Amino acid sequence: MTDLSRRKFLRASGAAAAAGAALVGSGFGAAAEAPRAPGATTLPYPREGITKAGALKVEIPQPFNYPDGQSFCQIIKTGHEVPGGVGPDRDIVAFSTQCTHNGCPLSYDKAARTFKCGCHFSIFDPEMHGQMVDGQATENLPRILLEHDTKDDTLYAVAVEGLIYGRQSNLL
Ligand code: FES
Repeated sequence: MTDLSRRKFLRASGAAAAAGAALVGSGFGAAAEAPRAPGATTLPYPREGITKAGALKVEIPQPFNYPDGQSFCQIIKTGHEVPGGVGPDRDIVAFSTQCTHNGCPLSYDKAARTFKCGCHFSIFDPEMHGQMVDGQATENLPRILLEHDTKDDTLYAVAVEGLIYGRQSNLL
């Protein structure tokens, strides 16, 4: 290799190394970030009072909106302790009631103790974290996370676990 071609080679190698370092520095070659859970957000959810725990009747759901007026939810007292339940009897849970298949409104079936969709007959179990148990839907119901203030008996919605139907982010 002549002096001239060696110099050209070294100059070209240096430029390639610098370009590689710039790519790594920009995060281009770095390991991919871990995927976030559906509905996860870095924005703060509002803390909104829904009702008093003592005002809820067993198996009679109450509608509310969370985290905004376009998101339809229901809170229900099951009458016995359930996973994720809050309140004095750990039997109060809340869910988005827009079907995870195509967004149709769900209604509560007291006899079956489930939320049902009239559009394509999906069924969800509020006593098992909103689990999808039958039908066209493939996702569980988004769960509204609740807190119970024992001082004044107020139930607060504080976050959503799972992505509300039709959204790319739960917080618009
Ligand atoms: S919209 Fe509910 S099952 Fe299709």
